[in-house]
Amino acid sequence: MADILKPLFSRQEIRKVVKRIGAAISRDYRGEEVVCVCILKGSFIFTSDLVREIKLPTTVDFIRVSSYGTGMSSKGEVTITKDLEMDISGKNVLVIEDIVDSGLTLKWIRDSLLARNPKSLKIVCLLDKKARRKVDVPCDYVGLTIEDGFIVGYGIDYAEQYRNLPEILVVEKG
Ligand code: IMP
Ligand code: MG
Repeated sequence: MADILKPLFSRQEIRKVVKRIGAAISRDYRGEEVVCVCILKGSFIFTSDLVREIKLPTTVDFIRVSSYGTGMSSKGEVTITKDLEMDISGKNVLVIEDIVDSGLTLKWIRDSLLARNPKSLKIVCLLDKKARRKVDVPCDYVGLTIEDGFIVGYGIDYAEQYRNLPEILVVEKG
């Protein structure tokens, strides 16, 4: 059956949020360099917009983990399927995540990156489903806090579909 998609955040709302986070990062790290770690695939559009709002010397790298399959909830079993190519030791790392739900994926990634001895590590998440958290993970820059609901668009998928939609929508099963 077809999925019903309901608009949640417009392109304009997203743009405002991205600008706000970019300005905060530029201010907080003034005089420093940052490494933006994009968690593939869901954060690719957010990362590409966000790095253009960071007014600092910035490098970008990508990591991909599997934890979700094509279903709608996290299993918490995480493996790296594509690792960073950069050495992040001694660097200011900004981990860029699309959605934090249970927090299991991000906590695992955070622990694994901290073991590489960065100078600092902060987390940026576009969408925070705070009420669904199962483990504590510090999100230093949060775009929007949302209620439960399955989100797509702006890089975020449901079974690999809908990443190309420019706004953020909620899926309702038809
Ligand atoms: P967690 O481990 O439960 O926090 O799940 C986080 C990961 O699941 C995120 O990186 C997303 O890629 C994915 N995810 C969580 N909620 C949604 C959603 O509403 N839509 C699409 N993907 C989601
Ligand atoms: Mg993700």
